[in-house]
Amino acid sequence: MTNHCFIGFKIYLHMSNYHIKGLEEYFNVYRKSIDKPEEFWGDIAEEHFVWRKKWDKVLSWDFTKPEIKWFENAKLNITENCIDRHLLTKGNQTAILFEPNDPTEKAEHITYHQLHERVNRMANVLKSQGVEKGDRVCVYLPMIPELAITVLACARIGAVHSVVFAGFSSSALASRIIDCDAKVVITSDGSYRGAKTIDLKGIVDEALNSCSGVKTVLVAKRINSDIAMKDGRDKWLQPLLDDASTDCEPEIMDAEDPLFILYTSGSTGKPKGMVHTTGGYMVYSAYTFKNVFQYEQGDVYWCTADIGWITGHSYIVYGPLANGATTVMFEGVPNHPDYSRFWEIVEKHKVNQFYTAPTAIRALAKEDLVFVDKHDLTSLKVLGTVGEPINEEAWHWYNDNIGKKNSPIVDTWWQTETGGIMISPIPFATPTIPTFATLPLPGIQPALMDENANEINGNSVEGRLCIKYPWPSIARTIWGDHQRYKDTYFSAYENMYFTGDGARRDAVGYYRITGRVDDVIIVSGHNLGTAPIEDAINEHPAVAESAIVGFPHDIKGNALYGYVTLKETGETRVHDNLRKEINQLITEHIGPIAKLDKIQFTVGLPKTRSGKIMRRILRKVASNELDNLGDISTLLNPEVVEKIIEERL
Ligand code: WT7
Repeated sequence: MTNHCFIGFKIYLHMSNYHIKGLEEYFNVYRKSIDKPEEFWGDIAEEHFVWRKKWDKVLSWDFTKPEIKWFENAKLNITENCIDRHLLTKGNQTAILFEPNDPTEKAEHITYHQLHERVNRMANVLKSQGVEKGDRVCVYLPMIPELAITVLACARIGAVHSVVFAGFSSSALASRIIDCDAKVVITSDGSYRGAKTIDLKGIVDEALNSCSGVKTVLVAKRINSDIAMKDGRDKWLQPLLDDASTDCEPEIMDAEDPLFILYTSGSTGKPKGMVHTTGGYMVYSAYTFKNVFQYEQGDVYWCTADIGWITGHSYIVYGPLANGATTVMFEGVPNHPDYSRFWEIVEKHKVNQFYTAPTAIRALAKEDLVFVDKHDLTSLKVLGTVGEPINEEAWHWYNDNIGKKNSPIVDTWWQTETGGIMISPIPFATPTIPTFATLPLPGIQPALMDENANEINGNSVEGRLCIKYPWPSIARTIWGDHQRYKDTYFSAYENMYFTGDGARRDAVGYYRITGRVDDVIIVSGHNLGTAPIEDAINEHPAVAESAIVGFPHDIKGNALYGYVTLKETGETRVHDNLRKEINQLITEHIGPIAKLDKIQFTVGLPKTRSGKIMRRILRKVASNELDNLGDISTLLNPEVVEKIIEERL
């Protein structure tokens, strides 16, 4: 055993900036975080985390390169912070509470002790398969304990995890495996999703036809299906775990070593592998978890996201565990066996903090209130939402029926790129207003910019949302493409991180996110770029060209509307068949979440004289806002607009 020379551990001994408890305190802490950011984050990092070696410098940064380093030369292992340091005081407390898809299957309470053992076993299995510090491991698993355990096991040995949401298609999986050059894939024999099962291993097999770099596939058993195992490549996980040691010394990492890659869609081109590093990400995800959810020891916290998204990384795994919390992991869906599933779980596990997406709230709000009312929800203290703007109606339904007007709602605005929550109320401190994410968290310096790239000062203004100063969990680069990182986030405005969102700042300084200002569409809280979807459609032999826009949808927030022109080859297939084939192509290339709700076949797409598709017009037609199309006379082909309007769906 190495000598653990922890610095820090002054935890809970004295008041600090770590836990904000009122509005005045928030303003004081916020002011300090802006006036003296290095001192602010340095104190938090030192007092609340375990480091093997202290940093030389809290922050060095240059947004023009861009290069951002937090806690330079500090050494740590994030799993020591998320697991080991809790063993003495809460080894027998539940760390992960696994609630299966099927309500009749028993929930599993994994204590910090057990988590320690299981993560170490998994870490040793990865090592035995040749995984070393810095190697990328692709994780394609359903929401079962092995998913969280694998993520932590990678972090334990310094391997970089790349979790791919297990709803993505084989080609989406393949492109992510190839992009980060993963050698090992971890998956399962299948997954449960409500009444259905999904053949995950089959999807992996198909993906690997085009990924020669993958030498090993580890397969967890979940649905006990009869699957094909490829000799020499595929191995059942359980026997390897059974044979592995429960001891695994944590790899000592540099604060700026990559912790994980997570892909997010861009407005153009292939998905971007956002790279998050170790020290800053740990500090920020833990700090924001504590404050945004006002987590107190003994509370049961539940975030309904999938670990395949950043929300699950930061607020199911790392943030909660770094705080020694009990975090619920739910395998299932909100409507199986019926629409009371969420509320049944809240009652069963006496959930105190509940964090979900507006799309889920809207879907549940459509159903009979008896699904809610038959359950005791009095344990709830804080409710949260994330992923897209929450509309007023959904906010009130959530507030009235779930929170009983007694649990503050935190509307949390952030992104895969930001690593943690950026703008959000602090419950019991910040007064909330429906549809407002309210105020920036400590350390976050938002700016609104106008079309001429000038900052808009003052209140009651609207502009493009940027951040002026680095925060600890900002993504450091795009895997393998630093230039794209620079172009996408740091080129629109000098010395600013550009979020891609628009926002309004009201009279008192509250922020309201108005939505994307680029070609990304948020569908059911999922970030979808239009270009990859169009690329998929254009592969159809009958398709000449296509354009995708979003339009308002009751449950999904936005749904996708596709305009498709066909090649003049005397296509004889009926349109409905073509529609099916197009959606099938999208499912294959991206996944079912990107399927189009409406597909309109048209003679042409409105274009500028330089040949750029005028999406603004297509968006208006799809949303049925026909009175204000703007000037179309300068178009190359104004006549198609009329046709498109006439034939709209
Ligand atoms: C985009 C980021 C952060 C985890 C989930 C999504 C939109 C996110 C809110 C909110 C309004 C929101 C933004 C953002 N968004 N939260 N509370 N209010 N919009 O992560 O997939 O990286 O998407 O989601 O447009 O840019 P993501």
